[in-house]
Amino acid sequence: VLRSAVTGVGGYLPEDVVTNHDLAKIVHTSDEWIVERTGIRQRRKAAPEQGASDLAVEAAKRALDAAGRTPAEIDLIIVATTTPDLTFPATAALVQRKLGCPVGVAFDVQAVCSGFVYALSVADGFVARGLSKCALVIGAETMTRLMDWTDRGTCVLFGDGAGAVVLEPVQGQGTIEDRGLLGFALRCDGTKQDLLYVDGGPSTTGTVGHLRMQGNQVFRHAVINISEAVEAAAEAAGVPVSSVDWFIPHQANQRILEGVAKRLGIPHERVISTVAEHANTSAASIPLALAQGVADGRIKPGQMLLLEAMGGGLTWGACVIRL
Ligand code: ACO
Repeated sequence: VLRSAVTGVGGYLPEDVVTNHDLAKIVHTSDEWIVERTGIRQRRKAAPEQGASDLAVEAAKRALDAAGRTPAEIDLIIVATTTPDLTFPATAALVQRKLGCPVGVAFDVQAVCSGFVYALSVADGFVARGLSKCALVIGAETMTRLMDWTDRGTCVLFGDGAGAVVLEPVQGQGTIEDRGLLGFALRCDGTKQDLLYVDGGPSTTGTVGHLRMQGNQVFRHAVINISEAVEAAAEAAGVPVSSVDWFIPHQANQRILEGVAKRLGIPHERVISTVAEHANTSAASIPLALAQGVADGRIKPGQMLLLEAMGGGLTWGACVIRL
């Protein structure tokens, strides 16, 4: 069986650190409120001249180094982003040029915070069918550009960053011992649009718009719906959730993360959490958390990983990976 396997991961965070205390100077909030309700202590903010593609390129370079690959070998780039540099071309096309990849396919996937899991499933289709020999899947976001800085209910939650993985084909036996992406479950419920959306766009207002959210409703849907998708992805992979070594959720809120882990019976020692330092970086949060877990030695080759995300759409989904 031909499978797609993760052969390198990398993450990049812009330099500028914005603490909760910094935010308390511009909106009526406090470090205490933000930490208690979300677990977030700080977030990063991209420099004015940095677009999502620039963050993506830095993460991609680190993932390529980890995989021992060069830009010349990349034949597919998928960028998951909801904050593209431009309406078009796709951020992936800008990344291709900036990385210096001479050929190949490049396009974006837009599923907001679920974008990385959606993009992985698309790339898996290319790699596992022999259509790509070396693919880059990147989550890259400049969420701070979508904030209404007068809305304390949203502006404290998000940050900027990028994470990337290299996917390559490997031959497997068709068992759960195989390396690779072993199972997916993806979902969307478009009737829940009003719970989380951006109030602008090229074909309506002609503006970029600001993020709008009914936080407590999103919270409720997140905890309930993610568990079902996680169970479905584990079933598709043929593994019980309890056998997973590392749970790597989308990093929106520590309480959501703990709520989902508890529902699934995953002990907190097996959960990767970066929400305190990164806040919610949308499509970038999972590959950033993965990169951190690999860099600090917790996540090792051969281990079973469970990824899950939920975001605007509402979209959500999960993926099981043998590293
Ligand atoms: N500082 C101080 N007070 C605040 C702030 C703030 N930053 N934000 C809201 N409040 C106030 C509200 O105005 C409200 O005051 P009121 O009672 O006087 O009206 C009070 O706090 C409670 O507001 P709630 O919205 O009910 O607070 P809740 O406990 O639900 O926490 C939060 C809000 C943190 C947004 C929570 O609902 C949440 O995390 N939801 C998930 C949303 C999320 O993470 N979305 C990300 C995208 S989707 C995803 O990635 C899963």
